[in-house]
Amino acid sequence: MSVTILGIESSCDDTSAAVIRDGVLLSNVIASQAVHESYGGVVPELASRAHQQNIIPVVAEAIKQAGIDQSELTAIAFTKGPGLMGSLLVGISFAKGLSASLNIPMVDVNHLQAHVLAHFIKEKPEDDHQPSFPFLCLLVSGGNSQIIQVTSHDQMEVIGQTIDDAAGEAFDKCAKVMGLGYPGGPVVNRLANEGNPKAFAFSKPSIPGYNYSFSGLKTSFLYTLRDHLKEDPDFIEKNKADLCASLQATVIDILMNKLRKAAKETSIKEVAVAGGVSANTGLRDAFHDHAKRYGWKIHIPPFAYTTDNAAMVAITGYYKYLRKEFSPMDAVPFSRVEI
Ligand code: KG4
Repeated sequence: MSVTILGIESSCDDTSAAVIRDGVLLSNVIASQAVHESYGGVVPELASRAHQQNIIPVVAEAIKQAGIDQSELTAIAFTKGPGLMGSLLVGISFAKGLSASLNIPMVDVNHLQAHVLAHFIKEKPEDDHQPSFPFLCLLVSGGNSQIIQVTSHDQMEVIGQTIDDAAGEAFDKCAKVMGLGYPGGPVVNRLANEGNPKAFAFSKPSIPGYNYSFSGLKTSFLYTLRDHLKEDPDFIEKNKADLCASLQATVIDILMNKLRKAAKETSIKEVAVAGGVSANTGLRDAFHDHAKRYGWKIHIPPFAYTTDNAAMVAITGYYKYLRKEFSPMDAVPFSRVEI
């Protein structure tokens, strides 16, 4: 009998629902929330209200696009955390209600594990691009920068992580001081393509092991702006592209140095990237370059599965369902990072 999972993602500012049957994606619907743009960041209370408005139409649309009837669902997977508590509560409460009314089990999903398992989403039954175990996954998003050693669908160990800011935050915060809007990552990426990555030198951390730090880079970026703005008030406007190119090159360098060290010391050559920052074209190029230079077999997800989406929740739920790891009805969300 086939296994059909409805996935629900509501951890931050995207309401998403997806249907996966036997590991193959049938639909993936995402409603993004424009309401936060004018605030320069996500406003938690507004996010949970928008989730409440979006969740019913988004789930209905995902079921419709999958071409199934809701009575064909085997189980409901939902994001339990980490994320914003109010936002997570909307998805969990909805999952509980639907699970009770359809009399089918629920599966809770860790958002970070879901980013990693996004690599197992099949778009067609014959897709065979999945990483083989063990592999390393660089998980880079607005809230996390981690190197994860993945030994099976349910065994993952975080071997390195940021001790302060995340890579996405470095992009977002530096973009904000340049007046480039929020989120800054995509704008920095676009401008970087027109600039010289060697125009400015920003500081790089030297901390032991596989851990990351991005706060020093942020500070050195701010000092560079401050020093030049004293001489020339139009400095940012005139040097936007070079600033973005140099910032992007430094972030990528920091990320790849530790990933290279981890790949070398664990002797793992199967290397994946996941999370919102993996949309960055410079980072993608760096992965291709490492594949050529070090013989890595690399896995880069399609853009649609890099940012928050329910397809990755549904695939994680699918594997948990197969292991019969169900969620109790009294499940509560968690906000902090755990994997
Ligand atoms: O995984 P994600 O969607 O969710 C959060 O963790 O919030 O990641 C969002 C992050 C933001 O920091 C955004 O600026 C960054 O991913 N991002 C990018 C690019 N696209 C999104 N950073 C660099 N280059 C990009 N092209």
